[in-house]
Amino acid sequence: MLDYDAEAARYDATRGGLPRAREAAGAVGRLLPASTRTLVDVACGTGFVTSEIGGVRAVGIDLAAGMLRIAAARLGGRVVRADARALPFADGSVDAVTMIWLVHLLDDPGPVLAEAVRVVRPGGVLVLTVNKNDGHFEMDSDLAASLARARPDRARHVEFDDFATVTGLLRGLELVGETTFSGVGQGVAPAQWRRWLAAGTIRWMRTMTADQAAELDRSLAALPHQEVARADPRYRLVAFGQPLRDRSHPTG
Ligand SMILES: C[S@@+](CC[C@H](N)C(=O)[O-])C[C@H]1O[C@@H](n2cnc3c(N)ncnc32)[C@H](O)[C@@H]1O
Repeated sequence: MLDYDAEAARYDATRGGLPRAREAAGAVGRLLPASTRTLVDVACGTGFVTSEIGGVRAVGIDLAAGMLRIAAARLGGRVVRADARALPFADGSVDAVTMIWLVHLLDDPGPVLAEAVRVVRPGGVLVLTVNKNDGHFEMDSDLAASLARARPDRARHVEFDDFATVTGLLRGLELVGETTFSGVGQGVAPAQWRRWLAAGTIRWMRTMTADQAAELDRSLAALPHQEVARADPRYRLVAFGQPLRDRSHPTG
């Protein structure tokens, strides 16, 4: 995982800043039940997304002090430095937990998801991004076509935030909502993908044979405008909650 303390100073400028934060926060808002009042944004980072979620009292949690310092200023001090695997909240005490761009980073998402489920009240929701890296396949571009063609079938479910994996770990909860948001400013150039391929940055790429990797590298190298970023990806955001039949409170 990146050193997010070191990354903090450049994080907003390189992750789409306020426009991306608004897109993500708007998507969160579409998935929150109308009854939502309290929200914990786990891995809030610099708090940009957190601060743009309207109509709730939000608290930001993050492990990186550098990120959290920026978030504290944005959230009026409503931040806590804590590990997502040990949230400082009582069982069933919050209406919603959000995790934007966290689970794809975790070697073992199980404990983090279990902890989120623990603190959400009955009838509340857990809202999280899934299949983050797939956002780059679904765009209509020469680059997306090259990547989608190259990804071996067996690599489809290796990402830590794979929807099927997450669903399995959230047994007992069900999908109650789904939307997407634009990763404003997150479009990537072919040359950057070649650098990620060489460095083994992207997990599914590490599942390729040497021949498959060489073939993908050749196809990326053949694309025009090597340093020009292609269209922004769209990210998938899902909400999990109790099955309707088990709810003791309407979620609005
Ligand atoms: C890609 S950033 C996402 C930040 C924010 N959600 C956003 O959308 O801008 C990932 C964040 O996860 C935090 N993080 C990673 N592992 C964590 C953990 N175990 N507990 C709490 N925060 C964690 C990092 O410090 C970093 O701020």
